[in-house]
Amino acid sequence: MKKLKVAIIGAGQIAQVSHIPNYQSFHEEIEIMGISDTNLQTAKKVAEQFSIPMYFHNHIDMLEKVKPDLVSVCVPNRFHCQITCDALERGCNVLCEKPPAITVEEAEKMNAAAKEHHVLLSFGFHFRHSSEVAFLKDKIMNGDFGDIYSARVQWNRRRGIPGWGNFTNKEMQGGGPLIDIGVHMLDLAAYLMDYPDMDYVCATAHEKIGKRKGVGLMGDWNPDKFSVEDSLFGYIKFKNAASINLETSFALNMKEKDIRNVQLFGDKLGATVFPLETFGEDGNQLTNISYPFPVTEDLHYKSIANFVNACLGKESLIVTSEQAVYIQRLICALYESAETGKPVIM
Ligand SMILES: NC(=O)c1ccc[n+]([C@@H]2O[C@H](COP(=O)([O-])OP(=O)(O)OC[C@H]3O[C@@H](n4cnc5c(N)ncnc54)[C@H](O)[C@@H]3O)[C@@H](O)[C@H]2O)c1
Repeated sequence: MKKLKVAIIGAGQIAQVSHIPNYQSFHEEIEIMGISDTNLQTAKKVAEQFSIPMYFHNHIDMLEKVKPDLVSVCVPNRFHCQITCDALERGCNVLCEKPPAITVEEAEKMNAAAKEHHVLLSFGFHFRHSSEVAFLKDKIMNGDFGDIYSARVQWNRRRGIPGWGNFTNKEMQGGGPLIDIGVHMLDLAAYLMDYPDMDYVCATAHEKIGKRKGVGLMGDWNPDKFSVEDSLFGYIKFKNAASINLETSFALNMKEKDIRNVQLFGDKLGATVFPLETFGEDGNQLTNISYPFPVTEDLHYKSIANFVNACLGKESLIVTSEQAVYIQRLICALYESAETGKPVIM
């Protein structure tokens, strides 16, 4: 069988720790043929390290020369849309890192380009690939939870402002914890609640801790260059009367170092996803059931594996570009509400 060709755009952290090694584990079916980065030295270094035959500083040159079947987009959020569309328009299947983009228009444009060019487009929402989520989704579809009328979505860090990269740069990333980490848990909740029609969204955002020097548990950040929210608290109301309470922070004065979870509340059962437990009643007893899933599951690997297998026609995509548009609408509405101080009617 002829191997499918892969190209990587952006040779930074996520490309090196996840995309490249995970694609290389599929060496029977695919081959990474090129890597591009606006920093040519980085592209060269990473190409040598991973034995990738060609490196480029311009992704268009790479797309034209390599003619890849699969492309990973691993650049700062600001460039997701343009670069993804450049690849889709050339007939490539694309796995773009999360978040989908910075604006709703961009996410819609990416979705439309994938449809127009009849190629696959997926996003790096790797938590969606966990066994816990697949198990819960089946139970929910089976009716075990009854009506899920509320969810609590959290990704809070006590002092987890990244001291590297672009994560505190609004122009490059579009925002802080909401668009970087909270988005993963929001994506899970929306998937498990089956994307209810949105009614309105309210949020408040704060820059209380990031703008001053402080203790860093994920490296030292530069308060003078901190241009994103350090926390955001939101409420999402759906037309079916269900709602989500959302909390996300890079820095918050709380006991735990890191809280990352989705809790679902249905009229028959409730659940917490990480770790997976369900809560209900049986006769006159309350029940708590825990499901010990493997702790070592590599979700980044599973995300790449699903994309590769979908491109090989063996599986359906788990994360679709329509779902990505939905999540982008929520993110942008939460930011808009935080900025204007008013609810956003959807
Ligand atoms: N799924 C996850 O959990 C996860 C984790 C980390 C990062 N990410 C996402 O991955 C993306 C990249 O993050 P990172 O941590 O690897 O950042 P990074 O800064 O380590 O790497 C980004 C690379 O892109 C290059 N670059 C910038 N503009 C470019 C362009 N126009 N064309 C080609 N290369 C360009 C930079 O030179 C840099 O080498 C972001 O969207 C981020 O949100 C996702």
